[in-house]
Amino acid sequence: MKNIWIKPGDAARILRAGGVVAIPTETVYGLAGVAFNETALAKIFEAKKRPTFDPLILHIASLEDVEKIATVFPEKAKKLAEKYWPGPLTLVLPKKECVPDLATSSLPSVAIRFPVHPIAQEIIRLTGAPLAAPSANLFKHISPTTAEHVYEQLADRIDGIVDGGPCTVGVESTIVSFTEDIPVLLRPGAITLEMLQECIGEVKVKKPTSAPGKAMQAPGMMDSHYQPKTPLIYNPPKEMVFPPRTARLAFGKTESLLPITLNLSESGNFVEATANLYAYMHQLDDACYDLIVVDAIPLEGLGVALNDRLRRASIKGNL
Ligand code: TXA
Ligand code: MG
Repeated sequence: MKNIWIKPGDAARILRAGGVVAIPTETVYGLAGVAFNETALAKIFEAKKRPTFDPLILHIASLEDVEKIATVFPEKAKKLAEKYWPGPLTLVLPKKECVPDLATSSLPSVAIRFPVHPIAQEIIRLTGAPLAAPSANLFKHISPTTAEHVYEQLADRIDGIVDGGPCTVGVESTIVSFTEDIPVLLRPGAITLEMLQECIGEVKVKKPTSAPGKAMQAPGMMDSHYQPKTPLIYNPPKEMVFPPRTARLAFGKTESLLPITLNLSESGNFVEATANLYAYMHQLDDACYDLIVVDAIPLEGLGVALNDRLRRASIKGNL
């Protein structure tokens, strides 16, 4: 039987040989493969059961690597990189030809991230190539924030897992695109809109598409995503009647007639709530409730990313 729990050195060896391994990052665990190896990329899509129209993020471990995969590095993108890399920020830039179409779903752009997690950096350096790495979960399922989450979803489908402990950020990176004149925030995350604007001025925000479950506006922009198997309703209407086996995921001191099952952060701290979000969703999902309801979270700062993920996890979409 293969040993699924591996060290960074083993991971690099497997990656260089075209395998796929789960690696820790500060946001969520990623399922990595060498970005220039199309067989490895195909294995990533297959292991995740992910459609190939959903493009991957390339992970690098030095600023100089940007120029190896992108044709231009606009000034504003550079400013963000200087301020927030390494960290939970992904930049979408025009791609070089050396980046396989399979990695970018044939888009003319490539998503690039320089993670701050020391184990992620070590694995990228030891491998000696950018690593394509989507979140290490089955397509549309909840992203993993611990190595055990990865094990539960993917153990028999991948070549190894490197355990780097729980992810400190807890939601996927902020994605900013530089393919238009004005930068566009494609996915909210720990680097908030306010932080981006403070650094580079005007940033447009990509509007979420309307109907949940409907096809995306652009590749990768799925409307329903991050979903537990148990139906989840974010911010339910006041008059709603809940089934007896309903779990309530609270935030701070919000009030409800339902007893609290878990609290994302008793003190209403966004950072703590974000770090707990997926682990608590996994925990409640595994407990086989009939319904999970989640209290409203203020739409400010990091709360924007939490609202985004919870709306997509919700069976009713934008309640
Ligand atoms: O924090 C993260 O970003 C994690 C860790 C592992 O780094 N990765 C992650 O990857 O969340 P994934 O595959 O779950 O999300 C990647 C998303 C795609 O679904 C798409 O929305 C966007 O990145 N993306 C990738 N390439 C793009 C491109 N060329 N243009 C626009 N969006 C792109
Ligand atoms: Mg994902």
